[in-house]
Amino acid sequence: MSEIKTVDGVDTHPDWSHVPEHARHVFLCTGPRCTQRGAQQLWKTLRRHLLEHDRIETPGGVLLTRTHCQFPCNLGPIVTVYPERCWYGVRSNDEVRRLVEGHLVGGEVVADLLIKART
Ligand code: FES
Repeated sequence: MSEIKTVDGVDTHPDWSHVPEHARHVFLCTGPRCTQRGAQQLWKTLRRHLLEHDRIETPGGVLLTRTHCQFPCNLGPIVTVYPERCWYGVRSNDEVRRLVEGHLVGGEVVADLLIKART
């Protein structure tokens, strides 16, 4: 990050002028209720598993983004996956691993983790 410059009071870097490579955009909620249910730890697990599979910001990989509340707090922590528009509730490191290996690497929806399956 040595190329960071401040222009008109805003930090800039050449890498911040393009959309990172990805096939799927994944949003993990780190809003207040999901955080109470362990979203910060699950974020680390999600990122680590994606890195192990070389799936972070690669052409076939994932652009991973933390969000504030996505609204179905009671079913969280919430992970949404696009372009498939899948809404998942994940509550353990094992469920994160299944999501990564099943959907984000294997390309198959993990049906029992969809929030519809938990309502
Ligand atoms: S805090 Fe995560 S869905 Fe509301």
